[in-house]
Amino acid sequence: MTHAERNSVTDRIDFAALPDDFAWGVATSAYQIEGAVAEDGRAPSIWDTYAHTPGKTDNGDTGDRACEHYHRWREDIALMRQLGVGAYRFSVAWPRVVPDGDGRVNAAGLAFYDRLVDGLLEAGITPYATLYHWDLPQALQDRGGWPVRETAEHFAAYASVVAAKLGDRVPHWATLNEPLCAAWIGHLEGRMAPGLTDLPAAVRASYHLLLGHGLAVQAIRAAAADAGIGIVNNLSTVEPATGSEADAAAARRMDGHTNRWWLDPVHGRGFPADMREVYGVELPERAGDLKTMAEPLDWLGLNYYFPAVVAAEPAGPPPFARPVRRLHVPRTGMDWEIDAGGIETLLLRLTREYAAQRIYVTENGSAYPDVVGPGGTVEDPERTAYLHRHVAACARAVRQGAPLAGYFAWSLMDNFEWAYGYDKRFGLFHVDFATQARTLKDSGRHYAELIRGHRRRGTPHPH
Ligand code: IFM
Repeated sequence: MTHAERNSVTDRIDFAALPDDFAWGVATSAYQIEGAVAEDGRAPSIWDTYAHTPGKTDNGDTGDRACEHYHRWREDIALMRQLGVGAYRFSVAWPRVVPDGDGRVNAAGLAFYDRLVDGLLEAGITPYATLYHWDLPQALQDRGGWPVRETAEHFAAYASVVAAKLGDRVPHWATLNEPLCAAWIGHLEGRMAPGLTDLPAAVRASYHLLLGHGLAVQAIRAAAADAGIGIVNNLSTVEPATGSEADAAAARRMDGHTNRWWLDPVHGRGFPADMREVYGVELPERAGDLKTMAEPLDWLGLNYYFPAVVAAEPAGPPPFARPVRRLHVPRTGMDWEIDAGGIETLLLRLTREYAAQRIYVTENGSAYPDVVGPGGTVEDPERTAYLHRHVAACARAVRQGAPLAGYFAWSLMDNFEWAYGYDKRFGLFHVDFATQARTLKDSGRHYAELIRGHRRRGTPHPH
């Protein structure tokens, strides 16, 4: 199938392929929406520190206020009801619950998630909780952060506290969100907190993130026996920019860096030997760690946004591959290439290469510079088309055997897009950050129609 065919705007969605109980959801994360960073005993996280460091984020934006979801969560549940979603993926802020990273539990912080979960259940929305979406307590960073082993142990203790409190009502748990970003972007590229450019620290962080994941799986299971547990990875298809052997090797390295390094250990395959050689950093291995990282999971989470096209870059940092900007292909406002076929390819790869038994698309979405028009509407045809084509591609993967159980649009509403601040808008609801007014975008209306279409088994046209 050609790129154009895979991205056709007239894609019919094969709703009949999707299971009846398919979970239609939206996703968010704590630091991106909550605000209230100094309320009820919350302590700073590495993202508070990073965002408040001059020059680190666009316009100097921080998550201090964000969407004020900490206070407006009831209103935000009403937005979910407006969309008709049956599932909500949110993250719990570690520095609200265990402000020092270990030890003392902050009951007031935990109570917020207790209220939220009850509110969701009352609204008929199933909660999917993620325990780590990048907001490490700053106190733990001061003691070494993810490059040190104790952080993984503290993560498991925090996971146990949250699962003991919410496990009677939250059926689905993710340990980590996108550990790739925490390790590679945060410790190697320096474009996310904690802002390091240190290869050995990055490799050690990646190791302890996956160790923390395995320990947290054990802790959640001990606290909530029926919990369905997974890990959320952001994966990309990887293609070489040219037919040269050098670019083909670069693509293999980029695939190792982006995909295999994160998937292989949790599937009991250890860390890929070729990538260990590429990094050339000794892993802080102890007997039994690999077994812990490979604790059996109930599901895999796939976050998909864009494909990677790479060329060899021998002088660059590992993986010695540089992204190539293809011409004449559609892109989002992040300048990310659009290829809906990539989500289909990755779902099938998880199914065939990793024998996935249950998968959720835990994030998928696009940013554009939306504005509220004079009639109070937000016209966002590009996002609508992106959403439609990616859902269609998911259904194609299911038809070919992928055990996809749900799709979560990123994001419920515009929010703090990390180093890009508030200008990159991913929401199905527009947020006016001065007034906090939320406005449904056309893409949100379309998503609601898709959800209804699945119930009726008919495909609405994307525009
Ligand atoms: O906003 C992020 C999210 O926090 C993690 N996944 C990608 C999204 C868009 O960049």
